[in-house]
Amino acid sequence: MRNDIERVLIDEASIRNRLDEMVSEMDRDFPEGPIVVVILLKGALVFASDLLRRMERPLEIECLNVASYHGGTESSGTVDFLDRHFPEVRGRHVLLLDDILDTGRTLHAVANRLREEGAAKVLTAVLLAKNKSRAEAISADYTGFEIDDEFVVGYGLDYRGRYRNLPYVGILKAGVIG
Ligand code: IMP
Ligand code: MG
Repeated sequence: MRNDIERVLIDEASIRNRLDEMVSEMDRDFPEGPIVVVILLKGALVFASDLLRRMERPLEIECLNVASYHGGTESSGTVDFLDRHFPEVRGRHVLLLDDILDTGRTLHAVANRLREEGAAKVLTAVLLAKNKSRAEAISADYTGFEIDDEFVVGYGLDYRGRYRNLPYVGILKAGVIG
């Protein structure tokens, strides 16, 4: 697996340090008391697991499966909710976690749905944000790292289902993609 990596973009120590900072920021912004953390599967699993273990506040965990279709023209992109049930968030403070902000469609759609379902407050956090113009004008409230607009894997992010368990974020060798 590691032989497929051209270069490490963000190493484990950098991720650890940044997660410490992000949790401090979150602790400052959320009022005391329990929150609901919504994890977008599968990409945000690793990020969420490391982030949440740094939090000392009471929290509940919910997971959501969504599919985003990027085919066709940019404007035709839609986000489908694949779960039978949507988490109960009425009146709750919600922290929404995703792996990466790319077009912004996923985070935009899920944050809107959480607000529609009556969440008192929705704050969003992503490990990575690609530096590009987005289909949806959205930025996360907390961004781990801004990266160039290139395809990355590791630390939860996959290429064709693989590489999620790499402990760092890296770029695949050109020969691996195709
Ligand atoms: P968005 O709706 O375009 O912002 O898409 C976000 C989703 O696309 C993420 O949750 C990832 O699953 C996937 N994605 C976007 N860029 C990458 C990448 O560079 N590597 C792996 N997955 C990516
Ligand atoms: Mg994915």
